[in-house]
Amino acid sequence: MAPDPDTVVPEVLFDAGEIAGRVGRLATEIAAVVPVDVTVVGLLKGAFVFTADLVRALDGQRIRPRLEFLQVSSYGAGTESSGRVQVIGGLPGSVQGRDVLLVDDIQDSGRTLAFTAEMLKDHGARRLWSCALLDKPSRRKVAFEADFVGFSIPDVFVVGYGIDYAERWRHLPWIGKVT
Ligand code: IMP
Ligand code: MG
Repeated sequence: MAPDPDTVVPEVLFDAGEIAGRVGRLATEIAAVVPVDVTVVGLLKGAFVFTADLVRALDGQRIRPRLEFLQVSSYGAGTESSGRVQVIGGLPGSVQGRDVLLVDDIQDSGRTLAFTAEMLKDHGARRLWSCALLDKPSRRKVAFEADFVGFSIPDVFVVGYGIDYAERWRHLPWIGKVT
């Protein structure tokens, strides 16, 4: 049975310092590949904290990104993906002819990134890279791999640093697991 989102006590998986260190190194990896005027497309809501930290880390690598957000949803209120990806918010202003870095919190089945990458290409994105802070390779259902991954993790449910469980815990400065 799924744990009660109000009474679970998340256990630290990555503390704020570990996350900051990895985000800094990710920015170095990304800056070696993307153009200086890359358009970063963050996926709401889960990637809002990660995207905010990543663009500031990219600044330290002399990248001057444009920034867009797109709201997509594949989960209902529970801990299992519904298997469908829905775009709730509008499309980003313009990715037409631009080089895009797509940013999400977690790569799980892979559907969200695969679907969104395809959609951005349909809207004229020129080159496209994708980045996920966390990756659960054992959960993949579609053939899609993010170009940049922060941490690879086993099949555990995580919260914090923007990531929710039934809309709780996004505010945590660290990433915890819920069991
Ligand atoms: P995918 O489409 O199955 O790859 O799922 C990716 C999305 O599922 C992520 O953007 C997250 O919002 C959500 N998700 C996957 N695993 C977790 C988790 O452990 N905690 C919270 N959300 C998750
Ligand atoms: Mg999400």
